[in-house]
Amino acid sequence: MKAHKIIKSKIKKTFPLKQDSFLSHHVPELHWFSTKSLKRMVESYPQIYVKPNRGRKGIGISRVKQLSESEYELSYGNTNKRVSYPELVKELNRRFVPGKSYLVQQGIDLATVNGCPFHIRVVMQKPMDIWRLTVTSAIVAKRKDAVVTNVARGNTEFPMVQVLKNCDQKLNPMNMIREIVDLSHQM
Ligand SMILES: Nc1ncnc2c1ncn2[C@@H]1O[C@H](COP(=O)(O)OP(=O)(O)O)[C@@H](O)[C@H]1O
Ligand SMILES: [Mg+2]
Repeated sequence: MKAHKIIKSKIKKTFPLKQDSFLSHHVPELHWFSTKSLKRMVESYPQIYVKPNRGRKGIGISRVKQLSESEYELSYGNTNKRVSYPELVKELNRRFVPGKSYLVQQGIDLATVNGCPFHIRVVMQKPMDIWRLTVTSAIVAKRKDAVVTNVARGNTEFPMVQVLKNCDQKLNPMNMIREIVDLSHQM
């Protein structure tokens, strides 16, 4: 079997999803980080994420929420800070690793189970020229206000169905699974 090429660049792998009329509605807005794009994004969304383009394991990711006209909440790891806009720019730049490119992304209000946010992991494989969904799981944050839900950051993986049955969404689990499977194949 031929090993597949892993595309690390988040901007590169987001592009074809944005081009697809069906998938584009499911993909948060994403731009290269700059003082200009940051300003525009914090003005457009209640929360935004700043992350390395070639990142992994939830490393170097920050979340920004606007608290008032002039105050922002900057969160990363277990840290939460109230900052002004100039302080926000300074703090974000201070956290950047030299030589790495960064992105600013529309924040998603993640679904929760017992108040803790989670993300769904889907693995697809193409053993005989047909794409098959081979693994699914849900990774639940250990804290209600967690910035990232990666297993590598101490969060826990559960069977997807178990989490969907107990989560805060109105849609029933069967319909959620159907949508997840559909979207995965479309991708
Ligand atoms: N735009 C976003 N909205 C909400 N949560 C996010 C967003 N971006 C990242 N996260 C949180 O951070 C985690 C890691 O982000 P991700 O982009 O997958 O980077 P990595 O490649 O380091 O895993 C996600 O699983 C999610 O919990
Ligand atoms: Mg990830």
